[in-house]
Amino acid sequence: MRHLISPLDLTTDELKNLLQLAQEIERNPDKFKHACDGKTLATLFYEPSTRTRLSHEAAMLNLGGNIMGFSSADSSSAAKGESVSDTIQTIACYADIAAMRHPKEGSSYVASRKSPIPIINAGDGGHQHPTQTLTDLLTILNLKGRLDNMTIGVCGDLKFGRTVHSLINAMVRYTGIKFVLISPEELRIPSYVREDVLDKNNTPYEEVVRLEDALPKLDILYMTRVQKERFFNEEEYLRMKDFYVLNKEKMKLAKDDMYVLHPLPRVNEISVEVDEDPRAAYFRQVQYGVYVRMALILTLLDIHVD
Ligand code: NCD
Repeated sequence: MRHLISPLDLTTDELKNLLQLAQEIERNPDKFKHACDGKTLATLFYEPSTRTRLSHEAAMLNLGGNIMGFSSADSSSAAKGESVSDTIQTIACYADIAAMRHPKEGSSYVASRKSPIPIINAGDGGHQHPTQTLTDLLTILNLKGRLDNMTIGVCGDLKFGRTVHSLINAMVRYTGIKFVLISPEELRIPSYVREDVLDKNNTPYEEVVRLEDALPKLDILYMTRVQKERFFNEEEYLRMKDFYVLNKEKMKLAKDDMYVLHPLPRVNEISVEVDEDPRAAYFRQVQYGVYVRMALILTLLDIHVD
């Protein structure tokens, strides 16, 4: 039984195949429109979501399959105290595959251990978000034509931002990758990413506080929102929330072929005036998220279309 709990659950070869499949789906969506006839995806969302839940659902619908699920913990039996293990063993009686988002780190892993159907981790607390990473990799590949030899700036809440943790985990496997970690002191990357991922893979990185210092050297700028829901204290959040604002003026410091990605939702960290810059790629990224999740569902269900 295959699950996607961390981006490392796919080897680089499997990842390459999956991204190629996503590109094929983009070129020829009609070929795949009955690939999941009779299959059902369950979305088990214990935390808010717009893109991640709906893009999994769109992906399954585009493949001809069905969808079911819940979009908040209080509308499920979690409110009565049911464990994720028991929930998943129940859902497996109704669905063929499940995408799960939960505020607790490690929850999708716990669910996967008892699950007779593939589990997709759609975000586990401040830990990992592997399907966002697949989306990010497809976006980078489509925009730059490669996944190696580049300098990637990740900016904002590097402490709680699970999309950043997963992206770094995945990118250190390619050659010639450098990271610039741009954050306030209080929101620096946790040591389980710095030591266990960056240092362990000998990936070069520098940590800076000012976005302006990093911008000129970047090939990709990955902006993130300050993760309000993970702060213990409101005052600290208010102090951090507008630390970075990317605007037209700052974009002048960047290369002509530096693309701006963001997993969204955006709060204030990218000014709307940047949206019209051809280097703003975050809404294209949303579209790629559907193709890559179609490819992921096919891969985990082991469905091949010739
Ligand atoms: C991200 C998440 O949920 O971690 N959103 C998403 O899935 N696209 C980023 C965020 O919420 O800031």
